[in-house]
Amino acid sequence: MKTTIKEAKNYLNQEVTIGGWLHNKRSSGKIAFLQLRDGTGFMQGVVVKAEVSEDTFQLAKNITQESSLFVTGEITEDTRSDLGYEMQVKSIEVIDEAHDYPITPKNHGTEFLMDHRHLWLRSKKQHAVMKIRNEIIRATYEFFNDNGFTKIDPPILTASAPEGTSELFHTKYFDEDAFLSQSGQLYMEAAAMAHGKVFSFGPTFRAEKSKTRRHLIEFWMIEPEMAFYNHADSLEVQEQYVTHLVQSVLKNCKIELKTLERDTEKLAKVATPFPRITYDDAVTFLKEEGFDDIEWGEDFGAPHETAIANHYDLPVFITNYPTKIKPFYMQPNPDNEDTVLCADLIAPEGYGEIIGGSERINDLALMEQRINEHELDAESYSYYLDLRKYGSVPHSGFGLGLERAVAWISGVEHVRETSPFPRLLNRLYP
Ligand code: 4AD
Ligand code: MG
Repeated sequence: MKTTIKEAKNYLNQEVTIGGWLHNKRSSGKIAFLQLRDGTGFMQGVVVKAEVSEDTFQLAKNITQESSLFVTGEITEDTRSDLGYEMQVKSIEVIDEAHDYPITPKNHGTEFLMDHRHLWLRSKKQHAVMKIRNEIIRATYEFFNDNGFTKIDPPILTASAPEGTSELFHTKYFDEDAFLSQSGQLYMEAAAMAHGKVFSFGPTFRAEKSKTRRHLIEFWMIEPEMAFYNHADSLEVQEQYVTHLVQSVLKNCKIELKTLERDTEKLAKVATPFPRITYDDAVTFLKEEGFDDIEWGEDFGAPHETAIANHYDLPVFITNYPTKIKPFYMQPNPDNEDTVLCADLIAPEGYGEIIGGSERINDLALMEQRINEHELDAESYSYYLDLRKYGSVPHSGFGLGLERAVAWISGVEHVRETSPFPRLLNRLYP
């Protein structure tokens, strides 16, 4: 019977064949332990000299790291491993023998590993992170489909700049200038006027010269947009969505979380409603905490966000930022016109902002005024203004950065390990 490591649990005490690779091994004169991997998981194969042919035992002892194989044997219970079972190997067929695999069990530097990202992906930790990423993607579609959202795909080649003009990747579009999308939001607003509740999930590009553990040049963003939702309604969707992501990973990625040695108690605490603090109160709090470097009107840096998040040890919404440090499209706060109806969701444990969102200006005159104030090219926003001309409604939306969410939930330090092939300031290879 041909099966996989993951499905082998259904074949206890039966003989199966699994196609995989040799991840690692150790052996003595009488027994060899093969760490096998097949994409679905990692499993130990035990080869006992007394129970296999001499050729098979020699093969097991000599087989090289990352050689591809078919292994055949009986699946038996193994309570010591995370998996719960192992294979008593009877025979091994080598498909392709690998020589001098560059990533050995010893420690390698990050740059070396990043240069070999195409191979590094095979390692146990990287495999676990990608599986968690996949679960977050799955749970995202589940959440929005179950809650009446329609998936709409905004374009990647665009003529306008939703999040400010400084971070754009420029390219030629035949004779015109074009930019790689830094956010699909403005198109999603148009889609919300056609479908009510919509979400996008796609690549986003920021030509930002940031070299931090939170910044990628290319990242994936989920951008829901909801007609007739005010800012408070949107925050509720955000906390429900993020809670769903965390719970899905806790439920469906137990082995991966264990591999990553994630403190799951911290994740289990995540529940709605999330704490909320206004920008004003956050500034007061930071000053009390001894941050002398922050003045009202300035944006928060990583240390400020971390101090606020540590105070709650839960995801926390910082709401109503000053108008002048936020993009042009945000609805003014009726209680204080120097601020807008927006929120950043700050993840705990120092992972920083994972969501940015707001209520959108729905008044045509005010939107025109903002576009002028921000010195944006009114012509390329003409379609966006049309949404305020023809049946404008209050609406809100947000964007969650996939890689930052994966980093936080899986507990890896740097976002570069949450993208299969990360694009970084100094890295376009592999
Ligand atoms: O806060 P941002 O810039 O918001 C927007 O783009 C809005 N248009 C979203 C919306 O309302 N539809 O980005 C949203 C999120 C951030 O909170 C962060 O998680 C992620 O995208 N993000 C990045 N992730 C990795 N690397 C970068 N350089 C990122 N920039 C933003
Ligand atoms: Mg933001």
